Amino acid sequence: MRFYVNPASVPYRTLSGGQRMPCIGMGTFGSDKNTAEEIAGAVSKALDMGYRLFDCASVYCNEDKIGEVFGNLESKSIRREEMFMMSKVWNDMHKKGEVLLSAAKSLKDLQLDYLDAYFVHWPFRNYHAPGCDGDARNPDSKPFDKNDFMETWRQMERLYDMGLVKNLGMSNMTVKKLNDVLPLCRIKPALIEMELHPCFAQPELFDYCVKAGIQPVAFCPIGSPNRPERDKTPDDVTDIETPAVKSVAERNNIHPVNVCLKWEVKRGAIPIPFAVEEEFLYSNLKCVTETELSDKDMEELKSADCNCRLIKGQVFLWEDAKSWEDLWD
Ligand SMILES: NC(=O)c1ccc[n+]([C@@H]2O[C@H](COP(=O)([O-])OP(=O)(O)OC[C@H]3O[C@@H](n4cnc5c(N)ncnc54)[C@H](OP(=O)(O)O)[C@@H]3O)[C@@H](O)[C@H]2O)c1
Repeated sequence: MRFYVNPASVPYRTLSGGQRMPCIGMGTFGSDKNTAEEIAGAVSKALDMGYRLFDCASVYCNEDKIGEVFGNLESKSIRREEMFMMSKVWNDMHKKGEVLLSAAKSLKDLQLDYLDAYFVHWPFRNYHAPGCDGDARNPDSKPFDKNDFMETWRQMERLYDMGLVKNLGMSNMTVKKLNDVLPLCRIKPALIEMELHPCFAQPELFDYCVKAGIQPVAFCPIGSPNRPERDKTPDDVTDIETPAVKSVAERNNIHPVNVCLKWEVKRGAIPIPFAVEEEFLYSNLKCVTETELSDKDMEELKSADCNCRLIKGQVFLWEDAKSWEDLWD
């Protein structure tokens, strides 16, 4: 086969509960640009190519189409146990009973009996209509509330108890919010999804997670060049065009995208890049099986970090919030 990476050659991580997972996966959010059918087609190609980790979410509105691929793993001679499947509960399904309903829908849509990881997508109930513009405000939105969050988390723990999800995850957290909720968790998160790319390295949050035995998962790992317009501001930096990333790419004779992914993997994160083009999917997976970056490369890439958050979450702000920074403590 032209594009194939033996899954056994992809390095793996071991989670706090002992389960192993690949050090790279495929994201499935089409940034409002790709249809569910196109993404399901890319997932099918990715599976044939050797990807075994997939990051899904109910809000991506494509789990039913992707499920048509996962419901048919035998036709690809892939066993369910080889896979690591992740999904997330959206902000409008946090209240009592709703998390279980949402997980059940994701399982049904994805045609799975269990998820390997299930995440709370954002740590609050603030909801925005699909495709809304960046200045839209939902009058029901409010700041992070520890009690609300724990009501949601108790349902996550119940899903774990029932064996429907093997690991729990949080996403879009801060150190302050983790300090608030971790002591209250009966079952701690095994994974945390956070925005991570060379221009947004989040060293404090990253180190906090590693110290707490929580595996960081890097979203927007290559700086999400095609993210929705509502998530773009004039000050945003493009990772693959920064001098440090370009210089490391030139020295190693690799593409700047590969620099970002290798940087994440060497650091200990699990990047979940999105792509639909076969060449991109292949190059993203293959690069983590090849020579890793040197300590010199890693040192140089530190200079790329300019604290440039791309997914600011402004659509989740409450009415009297001043700026998106209020969401991030
Ligand atoms: N937990 C959360 O709140 C959260 C938030 C955001 C994202 N995520 C997850 O993270 C995943 C990745 O984030 P993302 O999709 O925003 O950003 P990303 O992976 O950083 O960037 C994706 C874009 O990069 C391009 N690309 C991919 N591989 C490439 C290559 N080898 N060479 C050149 N260009 C390449 C793709 O272009 P083409 O489209 O042209 O192929 C795609 O549009 C999402 O799909 C989603 O699963 C989670």
